Amino acid sequence: ATTTDIFRPALHYSTGGTWLNDPNGLIFHDGAYHLYYQNNPFGSEHANLSWGHATSTDLVSWTDHPVAIVCDENEDIFSGSIVFDRQNTSGFGKDGTAPLVAIYTSAYKPGSMLEGIQAQSLAYSLDGGYTWSKYAENPVLDRRSADFRDPKVFRYEGDTGSYWVMVAVEAQDFQVLLYKSRDLRNWEYLSTFGPANATGGIWECPDLFPLPIDGDPENVKWVLTVNLNPGGPNGGSAGQYFVGDFDGATFTSATTVTEGLQDPDRLGEYQWLDWGRDYYAAVSFSDAPEGRRLMIAWMNNWQYVNELPTASWRSPMSLVRELTLQTIGGETHLVQQPVGDWAAVSASVSNFNLPETTIPAGTTILDGAAGTVQRIDISWTPGAAEEFGVVVRGGGSQGTRIGIRPAEGTMVVDRRESGHTDFHEAFASIDTAPIRLVEGQYQLTLFVDRCSVEVFAQGGQVTMTELVFPSLTSNDVSLYSVGGSTTLNSLHITQYA
Ligand code: FRU
Repeated sequence: ATTTDIFRPALHYSTGGTWLNDPNGLIFHDGAYHLYYQNNPFGSEHANLSWGHATSTDLVSWTDHPVAIVCDENEDIFSGSIVFDRQNTSGFGKDGTAPLVAIYTSAYKPGSMLEGIQAQSLAYSLDGGYTWSKYAENPVLDRRSADFRDPKVFRYEGDTGSYWVMVAVEAQDFQVLLYKSRDLRNWEYLSTFGPANATGGIWECPDLFPLPIDGDPENVKWVLTVNLNPGGPNGGSAGQYFVGDFDGATFTSATTVTEGLQDPDRLGEYQWLDWGRDYYAAVSFSDAPEGRRLMIAWMNNWQYVNELPTASWRSPMSLVRELTLQTIGGETHLVQQPVGDWAAVSASVSNFNLPETTIPAGTTILDGAAGTVQRIDISWTPGAAEEFGVVVRGGGSQGTRIGIRPAEGTMVVDRRESGHTDFHEAFASIDTAPIRLVEGQYQLTLFVDRCSVEVFAQGGQVTMTELVFPSLTSNDVSLYSVGGSTTLNSLHITQYA
């Protein structure tokens, strides 16, 4: 172990000592959540792309398994998804065992037959996802494109029938392409969505799924998510979403903007999965129990991933989130809540509470609240202060500030003094997101870990996910108020460590 292992997260998945990017093939199957991911089994750089594999039953503690689908001299195994083919439509099943089928992007290497092409391929597993065979007739969907990738497949059951639907991107064209199939081997073109809304960078890793509005099963909408890089609201990689309708062939959304897309001033009007710097390539699980829509993202940004001050492991996944659709101010928004049995990774869990109290102007360190792995639930009623908030992973001159500016209607995450920041010029940022008052209060749930802070504001209406690299001794929690006092309604800290 090197000293930089102080950044290895406690509540988040990371690999033992190799490269990791996008989550792939997320599926709940046979009682376990399967997380596959873009992995270089041989090093710490973005190369030799293969699918690493881990499983969990509590969504917090993960068991590593051998690399599931390995690159070879012809292809890198780029991102994709997995479905459970219950009815063996693909024919890969055997002796009554229905297969898991992975649909991934073959990124053909120099010197191979399809050099420079990205096309969609299949692999199948008959042992519940632990060992995989590539289909001999790959690829199954090739449009002679160099940037056609990241297939997410789901089972569609609707007025137009029951079949598989794939969403995949033409990355450079800012488009999501939809295809259908009866058997996962033959694919028929359906429609194209985009360019739309944020197009400041290539589109990658799309997803499409239904969700009820405000929990009403009679009022279901479809959500299209698409990640883009760069062009996020605070710079670099990020994910946007559209709420709309899917009729079995075409996705349409009332929030689609097609004029004046590139205007940076418009970014604040679009809908984002997360406003922070480190929530990318987000995709959802197939077959999650009780119809839940659970999502994981790569907790990183292509801007600076290669310079992160970690040891050979690079880099972590986000926490798992549950997505719901809610009506807020007359509009339909995604609301996201962290899920997982966090205590499962902890030898001891302790609590710290503060009752209602007035936070005077200035900064107050909370005695007895220090920690490096914690959940903080906090709510305020704004007073005369122009900004108030909390500083985590504080100590010496270090600290990550999460604040509310009521008059501006913004939340800020300031990581300029968060610890190691000089490894890349774009890292030391102060990032903002719009936030609205709910019933006279601002409420935050923060997850703090060894190299990250995830903020779920106003019950998950707004989220910001950020990497930070503080010293292990930077563990103070303090409250601050600027230009006046603020009323703290309640504060509860759960310490995991
Ligand atoms: C997104 C991405 C995907 C691609 C994969 C390659 O981060 O660029 O589009 O499939 O990473 O590792």
